[in-house]
Amino acid sequence: MVVFGPSDVVRLQGAEVLHVTGFRPDHDRIVAAGGKVALDAPLGHAGLAVVCLPRNRVEGLGRIAQALAALTPGGILFVDGQKTDGIDTALKKMRSALAVMGVASKAHGKIAWLQRPDPLPPVLAEWRANAAPRPNADGFLTAPGMFSADGLDPASALLIENFPSNATGLAADLGAGWGALSAALLTQAPGLTGLDLVEADHAALQAAQTNVTDTRARFHWADATRWGGGPYDLIVANPPFHVARTAEPSLGQAFIRTAANLLRPKGRLLMVANRQLPYEASFEAAFHSWSPLTTTTHYKILTATRPRSTRRAA
Ligand SMILES: C[S@@+](CC[C@H](N)C(=O)[O-])C[C@H]1O[C@@H](n2cnc3c(N)ncnc32)[C@H](O)[C@@H]1O
Repeated sequence: MVVFGPSDVVRLQGAEVLHVTGFRPDHDRIVAAGGKVALDAPLGHAGLAVVCLPRNRVEGLGRIAQALAALTPGGILFVDGQKTDGIDTALKKMRSALAVMGVASKAHGKIAWLQRPDPLPPVLAEWRANAAPRPNADGFLTAPGMFSADGLDPASALLIENFPSNATGLAADLGAGWGALSAALLTQAPGLTGLDLVEADHAALQAAQTNVTDTRARFHWADATRWGGGPYDLIVANPPFHVARTAEPSLGQAFIRTAANLLRPKGRLLMVANRQLPYEASFEAAFHSWSPLTTTTHYKILTATRPRSTRRAA
């Protein structure tokens, strides 16, 4: 059995389950629990597949096509999604190309199931191609579902405007995505000797490897809140602030604590956030010196130095 996507759901007794995910915190959690995890599933092997629908519809259809390709002919696919994640739209698309055998609804979600046809309908190749990485209007490689796939996020743009041009030493970009901040930082700060891009999403990190060609960049598929690199002279971050559709400030707060642990005593954190997110108490707890650098209608840039406890000496 293969499970695609966030997989809190599945714990089958005695069944051989392969979890397919590129999200490092999920990967680490599954491995720690003794589970099997991979970035993709072998073609035509599984008798049963489950797709947990992501929020992005194009990515979701790509995942359904990927799961069908992983099944043996006649194998069963379950697609599990919330109405807010577009299960109804996905169902419509599935029905236009595949024989959906049944649908069960409960609360705000639905599960649909079907048998893998043989041969697979040609439209599935289109779904996979639509979900694949391609250059956006600015020429950066991105894919549907990645943060700011269509172009630079306004908060990231504001942070870039506030990058120092005289930065030296080693820097890190926590939650680097497809590399928007890193590409700009390396251009604006010729004095940096190295930059670690730390990103949890494997596909985004792979895109960053294409987008950030400066030889000072190093790429790490890792959970930033458990990252042990450095010590750093500069850390930049536009941290994640959502889990699914819910604003989740604890993620950004964890990024602030991590940055404090990774910085040299004289190192500096530069972070952008939506203005209403409650990060100030975390800055106060983690740094002797911090202040808002810029505030706009929607965003704030916070800067901090002199971490209260550094993991190691400068
Ligand atoms: C708001 S986006 C910013 C992306 C990029 N820095 C930019 O400015 O366009 C946050 C990024 O953090 C990544 N992320 C989420 N949780 C993470 C974690 N625990 N460790 C590392 N990266 C994470 C997401 O995949 C996403 O790419």
